[in-house]
Amino acid sequence: MLKMEIIGNRKVLTVDGKAFPLLAGEVHNSDASSPAYMEHIWELADSLGMNALLLPVSWEMVEPEEGCFDYSVPKALICQARERGMRIVFLWFGSWKNAECMYAPGWVKKDLKRFPRAQIEKGKNKAGRTVSPAIPVKIPYTSLSYLGEETAKADAKAFAAFMGFLKDYDGAIQTVVAVQVENETGLLGAAREVSDEADELFNGPVPEDFADWMRTHTDTMTEDVRNSVLAGKLYGSWTEVFGPVAEEVFSAWHVSRFVETVAAAGKAVYDLPMTVNCWLDKGGAPGTYPTGGPVSRVHEVWDYCAPSIDAYCPDIYVPQFKAVCDEYTRRGNPLFIPEASTHSYSAPRLVYTIGHYHAACYSPFGFDDIGKPFTAVQAFLFGADVTDPALKTPQNLEEYQQLGQMLKGMLPLLSEAYGSDRLQALSAETDPAVPHPSGNPMLSIPPSMDFGSFRVQVSFQGPTNPRADGVCLCLQISEEECWLLGNACGLSLVSAESGKPNLDYLLVEEGSFENGIWKPGRRLNGDETARLSMDRPTTLHIRFFRYA
Ligand code: DGJ
Repeated sequence: MLKMEIIGNRKVLTVDGKAFPLLAGEVHNSDASSPAYMEHIWELADSLGMNALLLPVSWEMVEPEEGCFDYSVPKALICQARERGMRIVFLWFGSWKNAECMYAPGWVKKDLKRFPRAQIEKGKNKAGRTVSPAIPVKIPYTSLSYLGEETAKADAKAFAAFMGFLKDYDGAIQTVVAVQVENETGLLGAAREVSDEADELFNGPVPEDFADWMRTHTDTMTEDVRNSVLAGKLYGSWTEVFGPVAEEVFSAWHVSRFVETVAAAGKAVYDLPMTVNCWLDKGGAPGTYPTGGPVSRVHEVWDYCAPSIDAYCPDIYVPQFKAVCDEYTRRGNPLFIPEASTHSYSAPRLVYTIGHYHAACYSPFGFDDIGKPFTAVQAFLFGADVTDPALKTPQNLEEYQQLGQMLKGMLPLLSEAYGSDRLQALSAETDPAVPHPSGNPMLSIPPSMDFGSFRVQVSFQGPTNPRADGVCLCLQISEEECWLLGNACGLSLVSAESGKPNLDYLLVEEGSFENGIWKPGRRLNGDETARLSMDRPTTLHIRFFRYA
């Protein structure tokens, strides 16, 4: 049985009641259309320690003619995954893909009457959209309307048929563990659609039960949304109730209801965990990001309208990695990252999200680019902030492979510890040392992980370690024993009990896990423990004792 459920203090993906972290990768959009092309991608994924791939399956491919379904490609992909003992999260590219509709079948695209387009300029099916106030050009934009009832019905029908295929073909084995419904939903170029129909609805009344819901859920809202809701009228038009955020809430209401129609139809056939991914708002104005999509600002709207969705998943290409993870988990949402940058911190972020957030999924996008330099084309595609210094350093492929394999080998132990404080992590990116008032870098206070009886202090970038991509995960075994996994950091274990302030090592062993079984390597002592450090991807088993 596959579920998103609360285990201990986290919401995670579970298989038969046990946490099942996805050490995943998402392929480039077109790769999974060809199982032959996928052969080398599966191999690479395996070498990176991945246990799952996120693979698009498109409406146009599954239903090329209305009512005629073809599952040959997803079938072949499932077989490929099974041969390698891997899992799949399918990404349903239906009415939306990056806030556009390029993956809708031709018969949908061509019938503009039955399947209307979103109007961001009155009367126009395609119009120029401004990318950002800083770029004074407009690029052509078209998307299916979120008001299209026939569109939602047709999309839901196709998705339900696809889920029926999955149930028949995979229900017993469950190679497919979750499905993402649509891709980066929302509207670009305007905060809401402006067709006559949209205007009429926008000027009409907000459904009262929804207005009540928003009023009673202000606690978790982002500040401007909360202030707008509290300042608005109890009931009335969208502008009267939601003031300055009315257009975005209106779009979110319609987009999330559309997605719910699709997701619910699929779940009714086959109840798999369902996710939605999100093009982040990055503090921009509505219309510069897909508005109405599941950005944190409108999670309360999505909660109300789309109960079939189990996780809101951020696509993270911004430098503020931790801030985004915190924002997308603060309401109890599981951390499921379907897309993340392949640059610089890609591997430490993998270790950190597993150890710190107990992530349901971490998945670099286009992971066959790991190790390659960041390009201008990627900057455009990802909307990346090119001043981010992390983009200058490609992630070292070999290190990703080593860390990925280490985590995979340790997965049975990690998943046992999901939802408990026995599993923690720190990274150089997220946990810098606190500078000493004297300014002497040797005296700065290192970040630490606290396990009650002992603490693990981790020194990252500093006079003896220039690297900015260190990471360390600790899994506590007992009061005086732990596993450590990390890279590019120095370590020191200290007692956290005042009655026994001293700590000495009994055993420091490097090695690796295979399927949860420890295979010891060198026993470390002398110079290696005088200054314990991880200069390369390392797993350590440490036993110690504390005394007065
Ligand atoms: C985010 C989308 O969700 C992906 O499918 C892909 O298009 C990337 N952007 C850009 O490469």
